[in-house]
Amino acid sequence: MAMIRPHGSDQLKPLFVYDTEEHHRLSHEAESLPSLLLNSAAAANAVMLGGGYFNPLPGYMNLADALSVCREMHTREGLFWPVPVLNLTDDIEAVGKAERIALRDPNVEGNPVLAVMEIEDIERVSDEQLREMTEAIFGTLDPAHPGVATFTSLGRHALSGPIQVLNFSYFQQDFPDTFRTAVEIRNEIAEHGWEKVVAFQTRNPMHRAHEELCRMAMDRLGADGLVIHMLLGKLKPGDIPAHVRDACIRRMVELYFPPNSVMVTGYGFDMLYAGPREALLHAVFRQNMGATHFIVGRDHAGVGDYYGPFDAQAIFDTIPEDALEIEILRADHTAWSKKLGRVVMMNEAPDHTKEDFILLSGTKVREMLGQGIAPPPEFSRPEVAQILMDYYRSQQD
Ligand code: ADX
Repeated sequence: MAMIRPHGSDQLKPLFVYDTEEHHRLSHEAESLPSLLLNSAAAANAVMLGGGYFNPLPGYMNLADALSVCREMHTREGLFWPVPVLNLTDDIEAVGKAERIALRDPNVEGNPVLAVMEIEDIERVSDEQLREMTEAIFGTLDPAHPGVATFTSLGRHALSGPIQVLNFSYFQQDFPDTFRTAVEIRNEIAEHGWEKVVAFQTRNPMHRAHEELCRMAMDRLGADGLVIHMLLGKLKPGDIPAHVRDACIRRMVELYFPPNSVMVTGYGFDMLYAGPREALLHAVFRQNMGATHFIVGRDHAGVGDYYGPFDAQAIFDTIPEDALEIEILRADHTAWSKKLGRVVMMNEAPDHTKEDFILLSGTKVREMLGQGIAPPPEFSRPEVAQILMDYYRSQQD
């Protein structure tokens, strides 16, 4: 059975160097190349390119492609792409006139070489261009938006060109059971023999609303399997660290899903908080990892009140029909109904008023957990709540 095609090519073309001799040769060469210390965003792009998630891109985009992606959602060659993949820096002195450079990892001690890059261009990004890209990606220029704050501070020169990736940064070491490349997920899906595969994006410990959302998606689609695909990279302060989320999710899956129906996995990328545009990017890389369906629920990849709760679904109506092969499962707000005694999609319970649901804000839940109070079992599985309370308690010591 043929699996879903990767985005933009028949075969997945990960930029990690799998050939051991070539890997050895490049690592050796890298030691004598001029080197650039990457920022975390550029390093995360390299990790995604390395693992095949950003297929079929060969490396970092130049300004013309980045602007085209921002304006038209495709590269100049016509490849559908929603968010520019850039290597922005201020440190062009480090590059000089070199044709090839070593890209060093800011997130690993000693800054080892993450990738080797061929420099095609070094372009200055003007104020106007930075503004235009920021507005297109995030829908706002507000410096209080965490994604905007990061993106606008990365640097004012775009280094573009192909890269060859030598490792997966800290992700493989820190999350040996959870971190996967798109190549690995494709292989595992094939091993399971799954045909209909639903992917679930998350940056949170999974509460009942998330769990039931996944279950509903699987039931409605008649899916063979679910790939929970959690973000393992950087988040804004206050978000729950990946190892804690990972533990919560593993416990939940072990206790509440049938064996062999769920893969608990993660990817090495920093959260952009770009809402709709990030949802499109999410869909691209879930197709690359072999998922046939992707869940987009309420306020997907959102932060604060920057996006409407269903903007990240609506954006899929604005892209060309053939832009993606993966199908989007749009979900309404899920919550526990006191009337029905189960989690429902709120738009499917028309006789309910707000009071008929158990709705707790993220802030309220954090407050409770911090005080050692478990949220009600209708909101969080007790085993998940326990892990979270332990974490919050350890933070207070
Ligand atoms: S996200 O930034 O990764 O999107 P989160 O981990 O909270 O944040 O959400 C993961 C996915 O679940 C997203 O598709 C989101 O829209 C969806 N989701 C989260 N909570 C709900 C909810 N109560 N109702 C519907 N969808 C939800």
